[in-house]
Amino acid sequence: MSTWPPMTTGTNRPSRCPGSLLGVPPTPDPAPARLVVLVSGTGTNLQALIDACADPAYGARIVAVGADRDGIEALDRAERAGIPTFVRKVGQFTSRGHWDMAMADTVAAFEPDLVVSAGFMKLAGQHFLRKFPGRYVNTHPALLPSFPGMHGAADALAYGVKVTGATLFVVDEGVDTGPIVAQAVVPVEDDDDAASLHERIKVAERQMLVETVGRMAREGFTIEGRSVRFGPGLP
Ligand code: GRF
Repeated sequence: MSTWPPMTTGTNRPSRCPGSLLGVPPTPDPAPARLVVLVSGTGTNLQALIDACADPAYGARIVAVGADRDGIEALDRAERAGIPTFVRKVGQFTSRGHWDMAMADTVAAFEPDLVVSAGFMKLAGQHFLRKFPGRYVNTHPALLPSFPGMHGAADALAYGVKVTGATLFVVDEGVDTGPIVAQAVVPVEDDDDAASLHERIKVAERQMLVETVGRMAREGFTIEGRSVRFGPGLP
């Protein structure tokens, strides 16, 4: 079982989690949860999180945005919002493993409570996953476990499904296989092409992402097997 905030050892920062597993009263003025967001493209999901974090009641703030490439709109969005950015390209490293280690160490230096992959088009390796166990989430443009991989919207359309959507899940070592945190359903229209369907999915995806990350930050969450629940875990 994995819980956030941790049950026994905490950080020095007060937890966002209301109440405590150990009987300590709720912290009156909890620090916002620290988010690192990873991106590779346009960054509309990142922008939705930036906008949500502007409200102190949201309970989270983005402490850094990381990317695997430069020259992308997502990094411009972060810079416009005054958020520190970093780029680690796979090609800058002698192996994928070294890139993975560099990503993990760079993200860890920002001391995130939660790492959010929002359109980040690289699979994390073992080093990264071990550094952030149960605290790395990814948003995917399909209703997992259907249509994992790079082309979730196009694959759903090609299959002929009548509803698809978006999934937020906790990343594990598989490809889009981790425990599901939230899903949003989107109807497929007769005249959809892959681009129009993906754009409509992204509207629902942004809303789901903002709502769910906010709840994770404010309420905490517990992962037990494949089940993810909001709120503190049992002591
Ligand atoms: C999202 O649909 C995400 O699920 C997928 O790529 C898209 C990224 O969009 N992996 P944006 O960069 O946040 O606009």
